[in-house]
Amino acid sequence: MPLTIGVPKEIAAGERRVATVPEVVEKLIKLGFAVAVETGAGDAANCSDETYRIAGARIIDTAAQLWAESDIVFKVGVPMTEEVRLLRDGGTLIGFIWPAQNPELMKQLAAKRATVLAIDSLPRTLSRAQKMDALTSQAGVAGYRAVIEAANAFGRFFNGQITAAGKVPPAKVFIAGAGVAGLAAIGTAAGLGALVRANDTRAEVADQVVSLGGEFVKVDYEEEGSGGGGYAKVMSEGFQQAQREMYAKQAREVDIIITTALIPGKPAPRLITAEMVKSMKPGSVIVDMAAERGGNCELTEPGQVVVRHGVTIVGYTDLASRLAKQSSTLYSTNLFRLTEELCKTKDGNIDVNMDDEAIRGLTVIKNGEITWPPPAPKPSATPPAAAKPAAVPAAKKGHGHGGGGEPMPAQKLAIMFGVAAALFWFVGAHAPGAFLAHFTVFVLACFVGYMVVWNVTPALHTPLMSVTNAISSIIAIGALVQIAPPLAGGAPPPNEWIRWLAVGGIVLTAVNMFGGFAVTQRMLAMFRK
Ligand code: NAI
Repeated sequence: MPLTIGVPKEIAAGERRVATVPEVVEKLIKLGFAVAVETGAGDAANCSDETYRIAGARIIDTAAQLWAESDIVFKVGVPMTEEVRLLRDGGTLIGFIWPAQNPELMKQLAAKRATVLAIDSLPRTLSRAQKMDALTSQAGVAGYRAVIEAANAFGRFFNGQITAAGKVPPAKVFIAGAGVAGLAAIGTAAGLGALVRANDTRAEVADQVVSLGGEFVKVDYEEEGSGGGGYAKVMSEGFQQAQREMYAKQAREVDIIITTALIPGKPAPRLITAEMVKSMKPGSVIVDMAAERGGNCELTEPGQVVVRHGVTIVGYTDLASRLAKQSSTLYSTNLFRLTEELCKTKDGNIDVNMDDEAIRGLTVIKNGEITWPPPAPKPSATPPAAAKPAAVPAAKKGHGHGGGGEPMPAQKLAIMFGVAAALFWFVGAHAPGAFLAHFTVFVLACFVGYMVVWNVTPALHTPLMSVTNAISSIIAIGALVQIAPPLAGGAPPPNEWIRWLAVGGIVLTAVNMFGGFAVTQRMLAMFRK
Protein backbone atom coordinates (compact mmCIF):
# COMPACT_ATOMS: atom_id res chain seq x y z
CA MET A 1 0.00 0.00 0.00
CA PRO A 2 1.70 3.26 -1.08
CA LEU A 3 2.06 5.95 1.57
CA THR A 4 0.49 9.40 1.27
CA ILE A 5 2.73 12.46 1.47
CA GLY A 6 0.82 15.49 2.74
CA VAL A 7 1.73 19.12 2.11
CA PRO A 8 -0.07 21.51 4.49
CA LYS A 9 -0.40 25.26 4.05
CA GLU A 10 2.30 26.93 6.16
CA ILE A 11 0.71 28.80 9.06
CA ALA A 12 3.61 30.89 10.43
CA ALA A 13 2.95 34.59 9.87
CA GLY A 14 4.51 35.81 6.64
CA GLU A 15 5.71 32.37 5.47
CA ARG A 16 5.19 32.22 1.71
CA ARG A 17 7.07 29.02 0.93
CA VAL A 18 5.49 25.64 0.33
CA ALA A 19 7.25 22.32 1.00
CA THR A 20 6.47 20.78 -2.39
CA VAL A 21 5.91 22.40 -5.78
CA PRO A 22 3.83 20.72 -8.54
CA GLU A 23 6.92 19.65 -10.54
CA VAL A 24 8.10 17.67 -7.52
CA VAL A 25 4.63 16.21 -6.92
CA GLU A 26 4.97 14.43 -10.29
CA LYS A 27 8.34 13.00 -9.27
CA LEU A 28 7.01 11.79 -5.90
CA ILE A 29 4.15 10.04 -7.66
CA LYS A 30 6.69 8.34 -9.94
CA LEU A 31 8.41 7.08 -6.78
CA GLY A 32 5.12 5.37 -5.93
CA PHE A 33 3.67 7.80 -3.36
CA ALA A 34 0.24 9.41 -3.30
CA VAL A 35 0.37 13.18 -2.70
CA ALA A 36 -2.22 15.32 -0.91
CA VAL A 37 -1.99 19.12 -0.79
CA GLU A 38 -4.01 21.47 1.42
CA THR A 39 -6.00 23.95 -0.62
CA GLY A 40 -4.12 27.24 -1.07
CA ALA A 41 -0.83 25.75 0.20
CA GLY A 42 1.12 27.03 -2.78
CA ASP A 43 -0.76 30.27 -3.47
CA ALA A 44 1.92 32.57 -2.05
CA ALA A 45 4.60 30.74 -4.06
CA ASN A 46 2.61 31.02 -7.33
CA CYS A 47 1.57 27.37 -7.29
CA SER A 48 -2.21 27.18 -7.64
CA ASP A 49 -4.40 24.26 -6.56
CA GLU A 50 -5.05 23.62 -10.23
CA THR A 51 -1.35 23.08 -11.04
CA TYR A 52 -1.12 20.61 -8.15
CA ARG A 53 -4.20 18.80 -9.40
CA ILE A 54 -2.75 18.55 -12.92
CA ALA A 55 0.47 17.17 -11.40
CA GLY A 56 -1.58 14.38 -9.82
CA ALA A 57 -2.09 15.59 -6.24
CA ARG A 58 -5.36 15.42 -4.33
CA ILE A 59 -6.48 18.81 -2.99
CA ILE A 60 -7.74 18.66 0.59
CA ASP A 61 -9.99 21.34 2.03
CA THR A 62 -8.90 21.56 5.66
CA ALA A 63 -5.65 21.26 7.56
CA ALA A 64 -7.18 18.75 9.98
CA GLN A 65 -8.19 16.45 7.14
CA LEU A 66 -4.83 16.78 5.42
CA TRP A 67 -2.81 15.91 8.52
CA ALA A 68 -5.18 13.03 9.29
CA GLU A 69 -4.78 11.52 5.82
CA SER A 70 -1.01 11.90 5.54
CA ASP A 71 1.44 9.15 6.46
CA ILE A 72 4.31 11.55 5.85
CA VAL A 73 4.03 15.33 6.19
CA PHE A 74 6.40 17.68 4.33
CA LYS A 75 6.75 21.07 5.99
CA VAL A 76 8.94 24.15 5.71
CA GLY A 77 8.57 26.12 8.96
CA VAL A 78 9.12 24.68 12.44
CA PRO A 79 5.78 23.00 13.36
CA MET A 80 3.51 24.90 15.74
CA THR A 81 1.77 23.24 18.69
CA GLU A 82 -1.55 23.05 16.83
CA GLU A 83 0.17 21.31 13.94
CA VAL A 84 1.80 18.76 16.23
CA ARG A 85 -1.66 18.09 17.65
CA LEU A 86 -2.92 17.32 14.14
CA LEU A 87 -0.03 14.95 13.34
CA ARG A 88 -1.13 11.35 13.18
CA ASP A 89 0.01 9.03 15.97
CA GLY A 90 3.11 7.27 14.66
CA GLY A 91 3.25 9.57 11.60
CA THR A 92 6.39 10.85 9.87
CA LEU A 93 7.32 14.52 9.67
CA ILE A 94 10.04 16.03 7.49
CA GLY A 95 11.06 19.70 7.65
CA PHE A 96 12.96 22.28 9.69
CA ILE A 97 12.93 21.40 13.41
CA TRP A 98 16.12 22.89 14.97
CA PRO A 99 16.10 20.33 17.83
CA ALA A 100 18.69 22.18 19.94
CA GLN A 101 16.54 25.33 20.05
CA ASN A 102 13.18 23.55 20.41
CA PRO A 103 13.35 20.95 23.21
CA GLU A 104 9.64 21.39 24.05
CA LEU A 105 8.63 20.67 20.45
CA MET A 106 10.83 17.57 20.46
CA LYS A 107 8.99 16.28 23.54
CA GLN A 108 5.59 16.92 21.94
CA LEU A 109 6.59 15.09 18.78
CA ALA A 110 8.04 12.17 20.72
CA ALA A 111 4.78 11.88 22.67
CA LYS A 112 3.06 11.36 19.30
CA ARG A 113 5.38 8.38 18.65
CA ALA A 114 6.37 10.21 15.49
CA THR A 115 9.40 9.72 13.28
CA VAL A 116 10.91 13.13 12.61
CA LEU A 117 13.54 13.98 10.03
CA ALA A 118 15.00 17.45 10.66
CA ILE A 119 16.42 18.72 7.40
CA ASP A 120 18.49 21.26 9.39
CA SER A 121 20.37 18.43 11.12
CA LEU A 122 21.70 16.89 7.91
CA PRO A 123 25.46 16.21 8.14
CA ARG A 124 26.33 18.83 5.49
CA THR A 125 29.97 17.87 5.06
CA LEU A 126 29.04 14.50 3.54
CA SER A 127 29.33 15.06 -0.19
CA ARG A 128 26.49 12.59 -0.76
CA ALA A 129 24.23 14.81 1.36
CA GLN A 130 24.69 17.98 -0.68
CA LYS A 131 21.67 17.33 -2.89
CA MET A 132 19.52 17.29 0.28
CA ASP A 133 21.13 20.36 1.87
CA ALA A 134 18.23 22.73 2.37
CA LEU A 135 20.30 25.08 4.55
CA THR A 136 22.52 25.73 1.56
CA SER A 137 19.70 26.07 -0.96
CA GLN A 138 17.78 28.50 1.26
CA ALA A 139 20.89 30.49 2.23
CA GLY A 140 21.71 30.90 -1.47
CA VAL A 141 18.26 32.34 -2.18
CA ALA A 142 18.47 34.58 0.91
CA GLY A 143 21.89 35.92 -0.16
CA TYR A 144 20.51 36.83 -3.57
CA ARG A 145 17.45 38.48 -2.06
CA ALA A 146 19.59 40.46 0.39
CA VAL A 147 21.24 42.20 -2.56
CA ILE A 148 17.87 42.87 -4.16
CA GLU A 149 16.62 44.38 -0.88
CA ALA A 150 19.77 46.50 -0.69
CA ALA A 151 19.28 47.66 -4.29
CA ASN A 152 15.67 48.53 -3.48
CA ALA A 153 16.62 50.66 -0.49
CA PHE A 154 19.65 52.24 -2.21
CA GLY A 155 19.04 55.41 -4.18
CA ARG A 156 21.57 54.82 -6.96
CA PHE A 157 22.67 52.39 -9.66
CA PHE A 158 24.91 49.46 -8.77
CA ASN A 159 26.95 49.68 -11.95
CA GLY A 160 29.07 52.62 -13.00
CA GLN A 161 27.80 54.56 -16.01
CA ILE A 162 28.99 57.35 -18.23
CA THR A 163 26.01 59.11 -19.77
CA ALA A 164 25.29 62.50 -21.30
CA ALA A 165 23.76 63.44 -17.94
CA GLY A 166 26.98 62.73 -16.08
CA LYS A 167 29.28 60.08 -14.71
CA VAL A 168 27.98 57.60 -12.14
CA PRO A 169 30.52 55.69 -10.05
CA PRO A 170 29.76 52.02 -9.32
CA ALA A 171 28.31 51.25 -5.90
CA LYS A 172 30.75 49.79 -3.38
CA VAL A 173 29.42 46.75 -1.53
CA PHE A 174 31.07 45.10 1.46
CA ILE A 175 30.00 41.58 2.44
CA ALA A 176 30.81 40.40 5.97
CA GLY A 177 30.98 36.61 6.07
CA ALA A 178 31.49 34.63 2.87
CA GLY A 179 29.62 31.39 3.63
CA VAL A 180 26.83 30.14 1.38
CA ALA A 181 24.68 33.28 1.72
CA GLY A 182 27.65 35.65 1.53
CA LEU A 183 28.98 34.03 -1.64
CA ALA A 184 25.53 34.22 -3.26
CA ALA A 185 25.40 37.92 -2.33
CA ILE A 186 28.88 38.54 -3.76
CA GLY A 187 27.93 36.91 -7.08
CA THR A 188 24.66 38.82 -7.30
CA ALA A 189 26.13 42.23 -6.41
CA ALA A 190 29.06 41.74 -8.79
CA GLY A 191 26.58 40.66 -11.50
CA LEU A 192 24.73 43.96 -11.03
CA GLY A 193 28.00 45.79 -11.63
CA ALA A 194 28.96 46.84 -8.09
CA LEU A 195 32.52 46.80 -6.74
CA VAL A 196 32.39 44.02 -4.18
CA ARG A 197 34.67 43.37 -1.22
CA ALA A 198 34.26 40.65 1.34
CA ASN A 199 35.77 39.39 4.55
CA ASP A 200 35.53 36.13 6.46
CA THR A 201 37.40 34.69 9.40
CA ARG A 202 37.98 31.47 7.42
CA ALA A 203 40.88 32.27 5.14
CA GLU A 204 40.06 29.37 2.81
CA VAL A 205 37.11 31.26 1.31
CA ALA A 206 39.37 33.97 -0.18
CA ASP A 207 39.65 32.16 -3.54
CA GLN A 208 35.90 31.63 -3.71
CA VAL A 209 35.32 35.35 -3.13
CA VAL A 210 37.69 36.23 -5.98
CA SER A 211 36.20 33.63 -8.33
CA LEU A 212 32.77 35.25 -7.87
CA GLY A 213 34.07 38.67 -8.80
CA GLY A 214 34.82 40.06 -5.34
CA GLU A 215 37.96 41.25 -3.58
CA PHE A 216 38.92 39.51 -0.35
CA VAL A 217 39.86 41.98 2.38
CA LYS A 218 42.07 40.44 5.05
CA VAL A 219 42.12 41.34 8.72
CA ASP A 220 45.64 42.38 9.68
CA TYR A 221 46.04 39.69 12.36
CA GLU A 222 47.18 36.09 12.01
CA GLU A 223 44.64 33.62 13.40
CA GLU A 224 42.99 30.55 11.92
CA GLY A 225 39.21 31.05 11.84
CA SER A 226 37.96 27.52 11.05
CA GLY A 227 36.06 25.85 13.86
CA GLY A 228 35.53 22.50 12.13
CA GLY A 229 32.83 21.17 9.79
CA GLY A 230 33.28 24.14 7.46
CA TYR A 231 32.05 26.55 10.15
CA ALA A 232 33.65 29.47 11.97
CA LYS A 233 34.70 29.81 15.61
CA VAL A 234 34.69 32.69 18.05
CA MET A 235 37.89 34.67 17.44
CA SER A 236 40.34 36.00 20.03
CA GLU A 237 39.95 39.52 21.44
CA GLY A 238 43.09 40.60 19.54
CA PHE A 239 41.62 39.47 16.22
CA GLN A 240 38.28 41.09 16.96
CA GLN A 241 40.00 44.41 17.70
CA ALA A 242 41.91 44.27 14.40
CA GLN A 243 38.73 43.23 12.57
CA ARG A 244 36.78 46.16 14.06
CA GLU A 245 39.41 48.59 12.78
CA MET A 246 39.21 47.11 9.28
CA TYR A 247 35.39 47.12 9.31
CA ALA A 248 35.36 50.75 10.52
CA LYS A 249 37.49 51.70 7.49
CA GLN A 250 35.19 49.77 5.13
CA ALA A 251 32.10 51.42 6.66
CA ARG A 252 33.51 54.85 5.83
CA GLU A 253 34.24 53.85 2.23
CA VAL A 254 31.38 51.66 1.04
CA ASP A 255 27.73 52.34 0.15
CA ILE A 256 26.21 49.00 1.09
CA ILE A 257 27.10 46.43 3.76
CA ILE A 258 25.56 42.97 3.75
CA THR A 259 26.36 40.95 6.86
CA THR A 260 26.00 37.17 6.98
CA ALA A 261 28.39 36.17 9.78
CA LEU A 262 27.26 33.32 12.01
CA ILE A 263 28.90 30.89 14.40
CA PRO A 264 27.00 27.64 15.12
CA GLY A 265 25.39 27.58 18.57
CA LYS A 266 26.48 31.15 19.41
CA PRO A 267 24.82 34.56 19.04
CA ALA A 268 25.80 36.34 15.83
CA PRO A 269 29.12 38.18 16.20
CA ARG A 270 28.71 41.96 16.57
CA LEU A 271 30.70 43.36 13.66
CA ILE A 272 29.10 46.71 12.85
CA THR A 273 28.92 49.14 15.76
CA ALA A 274 26.65 52.18 16.05
CA GLU A 275 29.77 54.33 15.50
CA MET A 276 30.44 52.59 12.18
CA VAL A 277 26.83 53.15 11.06
CA LYS A 278 27.22 56.83 11.94
CA SER A 279 30.35 57.05 9.81
CA MET A 280 28.61 55.74 6.67
CA LYS A 281 27.50 58.09 3.90
CA PRO A 282 23.84 59.20 4.12
CA GLY A 283 21.69 56.96 1.91
CA SER A 284 23.86 53.92 2.57
CA VAL A 285 22.24 50.58 3.28
CA ILE A 286 22.96 47.70 5.65
CA VAL A 287 21.24 44.35 5.16
CA ASP A 288 21.76 42.26 8.29
CA MET A 289 21.18 38.62 7.36
CA ALA A 290 22.08 37.55 10.90
CA ALA A 291 19.14 39.54 12.35
CA GLU A 292 17.34 36.43 13.62
CA ARG A 293 20.36 35.43 15.72
CA GLY A 294 20.79 38.85 17.28
CA GLY A 295 22.28 40.65 14.29
CA ASN A 296 25.79 41.50 13.13
CA CYS A 297 24.94 45.19 13.43
CA GLU A 298 24.27 46.84 16.78
CA LEU A 299 21.33 48.87 15.45
CA THR A 300 19.46 46.10 13.62
CA GLU A 301 15.86 45.46 14.59
CA PRO A 302 14.93 41.91 13.61
CA GLY A 303 12.13 41.75 11.05
CA GLN A 304 12.15 45.54 10.57
CA VAL A 305 13.57 48.15 8.24
CA VAL A 306 14.83 51.14 10.23
CA VAL A 307 16.71 54.29 9.31
CA ARG A 308 19.50 55.26 11.72
CA HIS A 309 21.92 58.17 11.14
CA GLY A 310 20.64 58.35 7.54
CA VAL A 311 21.46 54.68 6.91
CA THR A 312 18.71 52.18 6.06
CA ILE A 313 19.14 48.98 8.09
CA VAL A 314 17.19 46.02 6.74
CA GLY A 315 16.67 43.33 9.38
CA TYR A 316 14.31 40.97 7.54
CA THR A 317 14.43 37.45 8.90
CA ASP A 318 12.45 35.90 6.03
CA LEU A 319 14.62 36.70 3.03
CA ALA A 320 14.28 33.22 1.44
CA SER A 321 10.50 33.35 1.87
CA ARG A 322 10.50 36.69 0.02
CA LEU A 323 11.51 34.77 -3.11
CA ALA A 324 8.96 32.06 -2.44
CA LYS A 325 8.74 30.36 -5.82
CA GLN A 326 12.50 29.95 -6.07
CA SER A 327 13.11 28.88 -2.50
CA SER A 328 10.13 26.47 -2.56
CA THR A 329 11.37 24.87 -5.79
CA LEU A 330 14.85 24.31 -4.39
CA TYR A 331 13.55 23.17 -1.00
CA SER A 332 11.14 20.66 -2.50
CA THR A 333 13.93 19.29 -4.68
CA ASN A 334 16.00 18.79 -1.50
CA LEU A 335 13.07 16.92 0.08
CA PHE A 336 12.57 14.85 -3.07
CA ARG A 337 16.24 13.81 -3.03
CA LEU A 338 15.82 12.82 0.61
CA THR A 339 12.69 10.83 -0.25
CA GLU A 340 14.63 9.00 -2.98
CA GLU A 341 17.16 7.99 -0.32
CA LEU A 342 14.36 6.80 1.96
CA CYS A 343 12.56 4.90 -0.80
CA LYS A 344 15.23 3.06 -2.76
CA THR A 345 12.67 0.42 -3.75
CA LYS A 346 10.54 3.07 -5.56
CA ASP A 347 7.34 1.48 -4.25
CA GLY A 348 5.91 4.37 -2.23
CA ASN A 349 7.23 3.13 1.10
CA ILE A 350 10.05 4.48 3.23
CA ASP A 351 12.85 2.87 5.18
CA VAL A 352 14.52 5.15 7.74
CA ASN A 353 17.86 3.38 7.69
CA MET A 354 19.79 4.39 10.80
CA ASP A 355 22.97 2.75 9.44
CA ASP A 356 23.12 5.38 6.72
CA GLU A 357 25.20 8.29 8.06
CA ALA A 358 23.16 11.01 6.35
CA ILE A 359 19.78 9.56 7.37
CA ARG A 360 21.05 8.90 10.91
CA GLY A 361 22.14 12.53 11.21
CA LEU A 362 18.79 14.02 10.31
CA THR A 363 16.55 11.52 12.09
CA VAL A 364 15.96 13.32 15.37
CA ILE A 365 13.06 11.15 16.56
CA LYS A 366 12.45 7.54 15.51
CA ASN A 367 9.08 5.97 16.44
CA GLY A 368 8.74 8.29 19.43
CA GLU A 369 12.28 7.82 20.68
CA ILE A 370 14.46 10.95 20.64
CA THR A 371 17.58 10.05 18.67
CA TRP A 372 19.10 13.52 18.68
CA PRO A 373 21.93 14.37 18.96
CA PRO A 374 23.45 11.65 16.79
CA PRO A 375 26.54 9.89 18.17
CA ALA A 376 29.76 11.77 17.48
CA PRO A 377 31.20 10.61 14.18
CA LYS A 378 33.77 7.85 14.55
CA PRO A 379 37.31 9.24 14.28
CA SER A 380 37.69 7.63 10.86
CA ALA A 381 34.44 9.23 9.70
CA THR A 382 35.43 12.84 10.37
CA PRO A 383 35.55 14.68 7.05
CA PRO A 384 39.31 15.20 6.58
CA ALA A 385 40.22 11.71 7.75
CA ALA A 386 37.39 10.11 5.78
CA ALA A 387 38.24 11.94 2.60
CA LYS A 388 41.77 10.59 2.42
CA PRO A 389 41.30 6.84 2.84
CA ALA A 390 38.32 7.03 0.49
CA ALA A 391 40.26 8.94 -2.14
CA VAL A 392 43.31 6.69 -2.26
CA PRO A 393 41.64 3.41 -3.24
CA ALA A 394 39.43 5.29 -5.68
CA ALA A 395 42.47 6.85 -7.33
CA LYS A 396 44.19 3.50 -7.47
CA LYS A 397 41.19 1.93 -9.06
CA GLY A 398 40.95 4.68 -11.64
CA HIS A 399 44.62 4.37 -12.46
CA GLY A 400 44.49 0.63 -12.86
CA HIS A 401 47.27 -0.15 -10.38
CA GLY A 402 46.50 -3.55 -8.96
CA GLY A 403 42.83 -3.67 -9.99
CA GLY A 404 41.14 -1.53 -7.33
CA GLY A 405 41.56 -1.00 -3.60
CA GLU A 406 42.28 -4.67 -2.81
CA PRO A 407 45.88 -5.76 -3.52
CA MET A 408 46.01 -8.70 -5.93
CA PRO A 409 46.83 -12.02 -4.22
CA ALA A 410 50.44 -13.10 -4.85
CA GLN A 411 49.35 -16.43 -6.29
CA LYS A 412 47.14 -14.82 -8.94
CA LEU A 413 49.94 -12.40 -9.83
CA ALA A 414 52.44 -15.25 -10.24
CA ILE A 415 50.05 -17.14 -12.56
CA MET A 416 49.53 -14.01 -14.68
CA PHE A 417 53.26 -13.42 -15.01
CA GLY A 418 53.80 -17.13 -15.86
CA VAL A 419 51.18 -17.03 -18.63
CA ALA A 420 52.58 -13.76 -20.05
CA ALA A 421 56.15 -15.15 -20.04
CA ALA A 422 55.03 -18.34 -21.84
CA LEU A 423 53.24 -16.24 -24.48
CA PHE A 424 56.35 -14.10 -25.05
CA TRP A 425 58.50 -17.21 -25.37
CA PHE A 426 56.03 -18.69 -27.89
CA VAL A 427 56.00 -15.51 -30.00
CA GLY A 428 59.82 -15.20 -29.82
CA ALA A 429 60.40 -18.82 -30.84
CA HIS A 430 57.94 -18.99 -33.73
CA ALA A 431 57.29 -15.51 -35.20
CA PRO A 432 59.29 -14.23 -38.24
CA GLY A 433 62.13 -11.80 -37.52
CA ALA A 434 60.40 -8.74 -39.05
CA PHE A 435 57.33 -9.23 -36.87
CA LEU A 436 59.52 -9.58 -33.80
CA ALA A 437 61.09 -6.16 -34.34
CA HIS A 438 57.64 -4.54 -34.62
CA PHE A 439 56.37 -6.49 -31.66
CA THR A 440 59.27 -5.32 -29.45
CA VAL A 441 58.58 -1.68 -30.41
CA PHE A 442 54.85 -2.20 -29.73
CA VAL A 443 55.43 -3.65 -26.25
CA LEU A 444 57.85 -0.86 -25.34
CA ALA A 445 55.42 1.76 -26.71
CA CYS A 446 52.62 0.30 -24.56
CA PHE A 447 54.85 0.56 -21.49
CA VAL A 448 56.00 4.12 -22.23
CA GLY A 449 52.44 5.18 -23.13
CA TYR A 450 51.10 3.70 -19.90
CA MET A 451 53.70 5.52 -17.81
CA VAL A 452 53.16 8.82 -19.64
CA VAL A 453 49.36 8.77 -19.40
CA TRP A 454 48.97 7.67 -15.80
CA ASN A 455 51.72 9.91 -14.46
CA VAL A 456 50.14 13.08 -15.77
CA THR A 457 49.42 15.50 -12.94
CA PRO A 458 45.76 16.47 -13.21
CA ALA A 459 46.60 20.16 -12.99
CA LEU A 460 44.61 23.11 -14.32
CA HIS A 461 41.97 21.08 -16.19
CA THR A 462 39.88 18.24 -14.98
CA PRO A 463 41.82 14.98 -14.49
CA LEU A 464 39.99 13.55 -17.51
CA MET A 465 41.15 16.43 -19.71
CA SER A 466 44.76 15.97 -18.63
CA VAL A 467 44.68 12.26 -19.39
CA THR A 468 42.98 12.63 -22.77
CA ASN A 469 45.50 15.34 -23.69
CA ALA A 470 48.35 12.96 -22.80
CA ILE A 471 46.83 10.28 -25.04
CA SER A 472 46.24 12.84 -27.80
CA SER A 473 49.85 13.99 -27.68
CA ILE A 474 51.10 10.40 -28.03
CA ILE A 475 48.82 9.94 -31.05
CA ALA A 476 50.08 13.24 -32.52
CA ILE A 477 53.74 12.20 -32.12
CA GLY A 478 53.06 8.78 -33.66
CA ALA A 479 51.27 10.36 -36.61
CA LEU A 480 54.04 12.95 -37.15
CA VAL A 481 56.61 10.13 -37.30
CA GLN A 482 54.57 8.49 -40.05
CA ILE A 483 54.28 11.71 -42.06
CA ALA A 484 57.87 12.94 -41.67
CA PRO A 485 60.23 12.24 -44.62
CA PRO A 486 62.41 9.17 -43.91
CA LEU A 487 65.92 9.75 -42.54
CA ALA A 488 68.82 8.82 -44.84
CA GLY A 489 69.40 5.10 -44.45
CA GLY A 490 66.30 4.77 -42.23
CA ALA A 491 63.20 2.69 -42.76
CA PRO A 492 61.48 3.02 -46.17
CA PRO A 493 58.58 5.55 -46.32
CA PRO A 494 55.18 4.11 -45.35
CA ASN A 495 52.42 3.52 -47.85
CA GLU A 496 50.54 6.56 -49.10
CA TRP A 497 47.34 5.49 -47.36
CA ILE A 498 49.16 5.13 -44.02
CA ARG A 499 50.32 8.75 -44.38
CA TRP A 500 46.76 9.91 -45.04
CA LEU A 501 45.60 7.90 -42.05
CA ALA A 502 48.24 9.73 -39.97
CA VAL A 503 47.02 13.09 -41.31
CA GLY A 504 43.49 12.13 -40.25
CA GLY A 505 44.83 11.16 -36.83
CA ILE A 506 46.51 14.55 -36.40
CA VAL A 507 43.35 16.41 -37.40
CA LEU A 508 41.22 14.44 -34.93
CA THR A 509 43.66 14.81 -32.02
CA ALA A 510 43.99 18.53 -32.76
CA VAL A 511 40.20 18.86 -32.55
CA ASN A 512 40.25 16.93 -29.27
CA MET A 513 43.07 18.99 -27.73
CA PHE A 514 42.10 22.48 -28.86
CA GLY A 515 38.40 21.71 -28.39
CA GLY A 516 39.21 20.62 -24.83
CA PHE A 517 40.97 23.90 -24.13
CA ALA A 518 38.09 25.87 -25.63
CA VAL A 519 35.55 23.99 -23.48
CA THR A 520 37.68 24.56 -20.37
CA GLN A 521 37.89 28.27 -21.15
CA ARG A 522 34.11 28.46 -21.47
CA MET A 523 33.63 26.61 -18.19
CA LEU A 524 36.07 28.92 -16.39
CA ALA A 525 34.31 31.95 -17.89
CA MET A 526 31.01 30.69 -16.47
CA PHE A 527 32.50 30.71 -12.96
CA ARG A 528 34.14 34.10 -13.42
CA LYS A 529 30.84 35.80 -14.27
P1 NAI B 1 27.22 30.13 8.52
O1 NAI B 1 25.90 30.61 8.06
O2 NAI B 1 27.32 29.45 9.83
O3 NAI B 1 28.25 31.36 8.56
C1 NAI B 1 28.34 32.30 7.53
C2 NAI B 1 29.76 32.78 7.37
O4 NAI B 1 30.11 33.70 8.40
C3 NAI B 1 30.81 31.67 7.44
O5 NAI B 1 31.54 31.68 6.24
C4 NAI B 1 31.67 32.08 8.63
O6 NAI B 1 33.02 31.71 8.45
C5 NAI B 1 31.49 33.56 8.68
N1 NAI B 1 31.84 34.19 9.95
C6 NAI B 1 31.58 33.75 11.22
N2 NAI B 1 32.06 34.62 12.11
C7 NAI B 1 32.61 35.64 11.43
C8 NAI B 1 33.27 36.86 11.82
N3 NAI B 1 33.43 37.19 13.07
N4 NAI B 1 33.72 37.66 10.84
C9 NAI B 1 33.57 37.35 9.53
N5 NAI B 1 32.95 36.23 9.12
C10 NAI B 1 32.49 35.38 10.05
O7 NAI B 1 27.86 29.18 7.46
P2 NAI B 1 27.25 28.54 6.14
O8 NAI B 1 27.15 29.55 5.10
O9 NAI B 1 26.04 27.74 6.47
O10 NAI B 1 28.42 27.54 5.78
C11 NAI B 1 29.72 27.90 6.00
C12 NAI B 1 30.61 27.11 5.13
O11 NAI B 1 30.44 25.74 5.38
C13 NAI B 1 30.38 27.31 3.66
O12 NAI B 1 31.09 28.36 3.15
C14 NAI B 1 30.87 26.03 3.09
O13 NAI B 1 32.22 26.15 2.68
C15 NAI B 1 30.79 25.06 4.22
N6 NAI B 1 29.80 24.08 3.90
C16 NAI B 1 30.29 22.91 3.48
C17 NAI B 1 29.47 21.94 3.07
C18 NAI B 1 30.09 20.68 2.62
O14 NAI B 1 31.22 20.43 2.89
N7 NAI B 1 29.37 19.86 1.93
C19 NAI B 1 28.01 22.12 3.05
C20 NAI B 1 27.58 23.39 3.53
C21 NAI B 1 28.47 24.33 3.95
